[in-house]
Amino acid sequence: MKILITAGPTREAIDPVRYLSNRSSGKMGFALAEAAAQRDHEVILISGPVHLPTPPRVARVDVITAQEMYEAVVRHLAGVEVAILSAAVADYRPKEVLGQKFKKSAGEWTLTLEPAPDILGSMRRPLGFGGYLVGFAAETENLLPNAMDKLQRKSCDLMVANDVSRHDIGFDQPENAVTLLFRDGDQESLPKTSKQSLANTILDRIEIALS
Ligand code: CTP
Repeated sequence: MKILITAGPTREAIDPVRYLSNRSSGKMGFALAEAAAQRDHEVILISGPVHLPTPPRVARVDVITAQEMYEAVVRHLAGVEVAILSAAVADYRPKEVLGQKFKKSAGEWTLTLEPAPDILGSMRRPLGFGGYLVGFAAETENLLPNAMDKLQRKSCDLMVANDVSRHDIGFDQPENAVTLLFRDGDQESLPKTSKQSLANTILDRIEIALS
């Protein structure tokens, strides 16, 4: 199968030396890409800035911003049967990118942010993606209701919900514990384990759903 995976954070420039980003390391997305390639799937990995090697037999596309990630997804979507959007994409970006480094002065500095492109929210419409769509929901409160709402709003087949208020798992950690929420209402909770092992379980569930 042809599988497209997004991974890592995005960076949104404020000025030539500053940016807005988040704590995503890309480990989960890279583990999914590695596991999918080991299963002989054709893998396109669209990655934000991370410090990880490209897994064998994975076609990697590096991007920086949410806009670039959106455009890379659009460019590579033809023929994709499964899209797994695990990247921690910026929801907001500075409305204006300063051409010169902002100089400090007394008092406050207010940044105005505008929405960045919502890649997952664009997959069905306007992008017309008809394949199996997997989203990730990183929440700090009301994990399952928020994740279920996200699954429905973005017409996903599977939502991987993880509680990012826990410091022992998730962002930049080698392990994670997640709950899988399926479109038909089924739920499966996967206790804390390595991201490699989670990647394999997630791929197992996708392969079963498509078999
Ligand atoms: N996502 C995306 N593009 C964005 C933001 C998020 O593709 N600009 C994807 C992520 O890759 C992930 C899912 O959407 O699969 C979850 O994103 P999240 O920001 O939690 O969803 P929101 O609908 O923005 O919800 P919230 O109200 O929690 O911000």
